[in-house]
Amino acid sequence: MAQGRVHLKGIYKRFGNFIALKHIDLDIQPVEFFALLGPSGSGKTTTLRMIAGLDTPDEGVIEVDGEDVTFAPPADRDIAMVFQNYALYPHMTVRDNIAFPLKMDKMPKAEIEPAVVRAAERVDIAHLLHRRPGQLSGGQQQRCALARAIVRQPKLFLLDEPLSNLDAQLRLQTRVELKKLQRALNVTAIYVTHDQEEAMTLADRMAVFLEGDILQVGTPDEVFNRPASIAVAAFIGSPPMNLLPATLDGDRLTVSGHSMTLPRAPQHPGGEVTMGVRPSHVRIDPQGLPTRLYLSENLGESALLNLYLGDELVKMRVASFNAGAEGETVPIAFDIDTIHLFESGSGRRIPLAGE
Ligand SMILES: Nc1ncnc2c1ncn2[C@@H]1O[C@H](COP(=O)(O)OP(=O)(O)OP(=O)(O)O)[C@@H](O)[C@H]1O
Ligand SMILES: [Mg+2]
Repeated sequence: MAQGRVHLKGIYKRFGNFIALKHIDLDIQPVEFFALLGPSGSGKTTTLRMIAGLDTPDEGVIEVDGEDVTFAPPADRDIAMVFQNYALYPHMTVRDNIAFPLKMDKMPKAEIEPAVVRAAERVDIAHLLHRRPGQLSGGQQQRCALARAIVRQPKLFLLDEPLSNLDAQLRLQTRVELKKLQRALNVTAIYVTHDQEEAMTLADRMAVFLEGDILQVGTPDEVFNRPASIAVAAFIGSPPMNLLPATLDGDRLTVSGHSMTLPRAPQHPGGEVTMGVRPSHVRIDPQGLPTRLYLSENLGESALLNLYLGDELVKMRVASFNAGAEGETVPIAFDIDTIHLFESGSGRRIPLAGE
């Protein structure tokens, strides 16, 4: 039977007068790679610490494989945790760092060495076992922390921004290795990050956190292509989608005096709404809306045009660098099949028929 299901029910946490978590519900499946994604201070680490047993909620229940572990100490939870700063013991060799959890578990000495070598080989540091952490590069230290975490074959693998100390290139490389490792170990991974690209590429599913609340739970595809609210839409994507005031009348959508027919009927009575469109779904159209080019940003493979449609800033991605002249008029249109609609008041997504 697959193990490692984590069920959070109504988790509420306060620090003094500050409410850090507002009744969090989450159901994480066995061997899932699950990301907790959100901006700084949104409650991701607090949630992970409760799952680890390093902190306890004021209200709510945490179950692992159906067992209530809300107040169980960390040692009873069969978890391994990797932190942002790795938390290696500086005075111990890599070998002793990796062996540490096994010694704590009182594993017979003869079994420890082969287990340490196996874990080190998995993350490609078997040749570094004699060194101390201070004699390793950042990426090697990070892999040492991973080896220490996997040496015990835990039921749950908890990671809190483990890649954030690595340079951009090493981060991309380690990201791939981490995903491979999780698949090979066949273990549930809960991964905290504020980097949406990391969450999108690593996770089977993710929860989007904001101010102690979960805004949406879904696959990367669902969160990216069907954001549940304006708040999610404003956070996901780099840059996130443009959000523009619009008027809805049946299946007619009007933006800045320009009307379009939606591909399917929206499930909404009509009136003032918010339209979302990604920068890559804005195009130049001589019959379109006139905008003024404010600034063109060269991103290398593509460029971002910052355009003003009246008072509204619209970002448009173009394939290659096209400086344009600042102040120039650029007529634009939106790919109608790709737009998103939201209620302006509640911020909730307005589904189209069949969605
Ligand atoms: N021990 C504590 N005492 C008081 N406030 C705390 C404590 N721990 C966390 N907080 C507050 O709770 C909120 C959530 O913190 P948390 O560490 O969970 O955020 P996070 O989403 O992990 O952010 P980051 O991306 O910056 O790590 C923050 O506003 C933080 O200041
Ligand atoms: Mg954190």
